[in-house]
Amino acid sequence: DDITARRKDAHLDLCATGDVEPSGNSTLLECVKLVHCAMPELSVEDVDLSTPFLGKRLRYPLLVTGMTGGTERAGAVNRDLAQLAERHGLAFGVGSQRAMSEDAARTASFQVRQVAPTVALLGNIGMFQAIRLGVDGTRRLVDGIGADGLALHLNAGQELTQPEGDRDFRGGYRVVELLVRAFGDRLLVKETGCGIGPDVARRLVDLGVRNIDVSGLGGTSWVRVEQLRASGVQAQVGAEFSAWGIPTAAALATVRRAVGPDVHLVASGGLRTGLDAAKVLALGANLAGMALPLFRAQQAGGLPAAEAALEVILAGLRQALVLTGSRSCAELGQRPRVVTGELKDWLAAL
Ligand code: FNR
Repeated sequence: DDITARRKDAHLDLCATGDVEPSGNSTLLECVKLVHCAMPELSVEDVDLSTPFLGKRLRYPLLVTGMTGGTERAGAVNRDLAQLAERHGLAFGVGSQRAMSEDAARTASFQVRQVAPTVALLGNIGMFQAIRLGVDGTRRLVDGIGADGLALHLNAGQELTQPEGDRDFRGGYRVVELLVRAFGDRLLVKETGCGIGPDVARRLVDLGVRNIDVSGLGGTSWVRVEQLRASGVQAQVGAEFSAWGIPTAAALATVRRAVGPDVHLVASGGLRTGLDAAKVLALGANLAGMALPLFRAQQAGGLPAAEAALEVILAGLRQALVLTGSRSCAELGQRPRVVTGELKDWLAAL
């Protein structure tokens, strides 16, 4: 229990200042070009980015993906970023509620409703914690923070690099089936930076999953984070695998093709700008997700710094809509885009 909390603070330290985005990794969003429209025939004010999620209406198609909770410091991160999401009409996710399931006293660090009463809010638990907790235990975590839905995270790559991590990954689809029955379209299944590919996505959708965050390669690498904490064999194998995963653009485009238009897709993993967000919306995402950039801004200067970073992202996103002549996310999704280079190879192979 204390071990879980201590590990969380070590993770936060590494993510705040460590080399957790291996420089050779890429989302492959550089292989996607949106096409300039010289005559947009619309005003910036005409752009309406609002989008439905978890039974609510967001003002922007953005999700601050789950990061933290369980310690004082983590509680401050959650409150600042949830408040930011509330103010600007984004969705927000807390990090893994494992610490809360082990010690109820840690609940407060996941509580954001006092500062974000109406935000679209996701709880969070790992696949293998969910197996241990069962449906009732998992539901208590979601209800305990007044969340609108649950993010179930997959992180086999991280677990294998973590000295104390899980080694047995059987039984996953079975627990997804149970959670679909309990949460219906309030369940989202996400990766944590190695990507969900089309085969896994199809099986999840066949079991009734309606929301998937592909969370691909190209941003925060949890294999790298654990590598930095590991020693011996695990540190070396962690180094070998810190570029392992499906790049975000490849995961998104192939999953969209595999599951059809009705599944709600979040694209995250390495998105850093409003233009990145616009590209994933054009490739078929309903929402763009970001973790590290907002976390780092918050660590550097609290809510004001996080808000300053977000304003740059929102301005870039609005500008991308205007310059493609798009009034809405739906229109952006219909615009032509150019796909080049390595992304084409992924699209051909998957
Ligand atoms: C994360 N991420 C994460 N995901 C999850 O489902 N549960 C968690 O507890 C955490 N914890 C966490 C902490 C911190 C500090 C970061 C930066 C990230 C993963 C996150 O939601 C996302 O999937 C990846 O980080 C990829 O997005 P970025 O960081 O490249 O934008």
